[in-house]
This record gives sequence, C-alpha cells and structure tokens, in this order.
Amino acid sequence: MTSQILEELNERLAMPGLTFVAGPGDLPVVQIENEHATAAIALQGAHVLSFQPSGQGDVLFMSRQAIFAPGTPIRGGIPVCWPWFGKNASDPSLPQHGFVRTMPWEVRAAGSGEEGTYVEMALTDNDATRALWPHPFELRLIVTVGRTLRLELVAINTGGQAVTLTSALHTYFAIGDASTISIHGLEGLTYLDKLEDYAQKHQDGPITISDETDRIYLDTAGTCTIEDPKLGRRIIIAKSGSRSTVVWNPWKTRAREMRDFAPDEYQTMVCVETTNAATDVVTVGPGDAHRLIVVISAEQA
Ligand code: BG6
Repeated sequence: MTSQILEELNERLAMPGLTFVAGPGDLPVVQIENEHATAAIALQGAHVLSFQPSGQGDVLFMSRQAIFAPGTPIRGGIPVCWPWFGKNASDPSLPQHGFVRTMPWEVRAAGSGEEGTYVEMALTDNDATRALWPHPFELRLIVTVGRTLRLELVAINTGGQAVTLTSALHTYFAIGDASTISIHGLEGLTYLDKLEDYAQKHQDGPITISDETDRIYLDTAGTCTIEDPKLGRRIIIAKSGSRSTVVWNPWKTRAREMRDFAPDEYQTMVCVETTNAATDVVTVGPGDAHRLIVVISAEQA
C-alpha cells in the first residue's frame, strides 16, 4: 500500500531534493534536502518530523520512543492540532488536540521558490472528520524548508455557517538542557497555568524551567527566542495569525507516565507552541480562511 502511494507521489511530484520515501513505521514521508537544510514530513498529520539546518543538529525534538503507526499521534516534531487545542470544550471524550494530527493528508503540490523547497498538503472533511466535528472544511499546510522552516496552516470554511476554532502548531524543540535554557519574548504577559486549573498568573522576566510546565500565554503576537547555552544555539520563533503561545515541559513525573517518551527526555525538549488557544478563539465565516503561520530559524553561536 505504502509503496503504491509513494510511486504515485514520486511520479507526480518528485524533483531534485524532494522525494517521497517510506519513513519509520512505513509511514509515507516527504524528504527534503537543499543547500540550506534537510527536513522530513510525514503525510500522516502533515507532521514535520525533522528540520536540520546545514552544519547544525536538528532544531526539532523527536522522542526515541515515538510511535509511528497509522492513527497514533507522533511524540515530537510539529503535530498539527486542529480544530481544537487540548481537550474538546463540549465533549472531553473526543481526541485531545483535535483529529487532523492522526489522519492521512494528501499532497497537492511541491516545488521550490525564493524561500526554499515547499510542499503543500491538504485535508478536507470526510465521513471520519464529520463523525467528530460536523463542519465542512479544507485545511492546507504549506511547509517551506530553506534557511528557515516556515509552516502556513490555512483553514478554509467551505460550509454555510461560521465556525469557531482553536489550534496549534505544537512545536517540540531540541535543546541541550531544559534547566539552563531561557525563553524570551513573553516577559510581562499573563498566562493561564494549566497545572493549577488555569489560574491566571503574571510572567516576570524570561521563562526558565525547573519543574512541570504547562502554560497558555495570552496576547502573544511577537517573536520568541529560546537561548540554549549548552548547545550554543538560539532558536527564533516568529509567527502570525496567533495571539497565544503554549509552553510545555512534562518534567520527571509526567515523563514517566507517557509510553511514547523516554524518562530522561524532558531534559532535552521544550514545546513552544504557536497557538489559537484559551481566549484566542478564531471565528471563520462561510467562505473565509484563517492563516496560522510560524517561521523558525536557529543561530549557532
Ligand atoms: C500541550 C498541552 O500542548 O500538549 C499539554 O498543553 C499536553 O497539556 C501536551 O499534555 C501533550 O499532549 P499530547 O496529547 O500530545 O500528549
């Protein structure tokens, strides 16, 4: 099955530096390699697995216990959470973080432009999505790999009624040591602490991590940076279409509870997620579109 899918995709869209290959668990993966970077994107979930700028380590974290299987979320990279972030507000029995991260996406186009090599993937409503969320939609994710990694998630309301959405480009970053990094750009803002029943708190200074952390920062339109002294690297996260940012690290106890995450890996990852979450709910009118964009780059000291 996978080999037939790959053959069709390679015939239609492969080009120098962009091919479709069988990835881990035999999942179809887009492999991109150009003068600036290499990247891999699973078609399940349109999930970016890896982004490695030339001469650097991977900017994205992937758990060595990640499960690669049809219908299972992948622990690391950039899961696309849509059309809701976290638990579904009206029915907590629905899948956490929506359903598109575990569904197969189609590939619409691939090519290269000024910003790098790109691939456009799409998912439209079908029986499986309508069983979970009764709205017509077209979702596109355009991933561009160059000096930067750019993701543009376009949510088009193809139905006749306005819909409300929350979502995330749930990015797992690879870091040297969680207890020595600092995250800048959210100073002075209010956040909701998910570990204390969404208590509203104030962020003084840059974020440092020394325990389980699960926060939704509000009014966050600006750029964030992760300063990583151990790897001698700065990661820069610029975005648009998002006014909230989630910062997550499971730390020791939660790490041990996750079967797809190794017990020590809380030390080498942090999620800084470009979201529409909490009060940052998006309403998309009939025929309208919402664009959620993140542009990630890394500077080595
Ligand atoms: C974060 C949430 O975005 O994702 C956390 O804020 C959650 O509460 C984490 O634990 C991981 O979610 P999941 O469903 O991928 O295990």
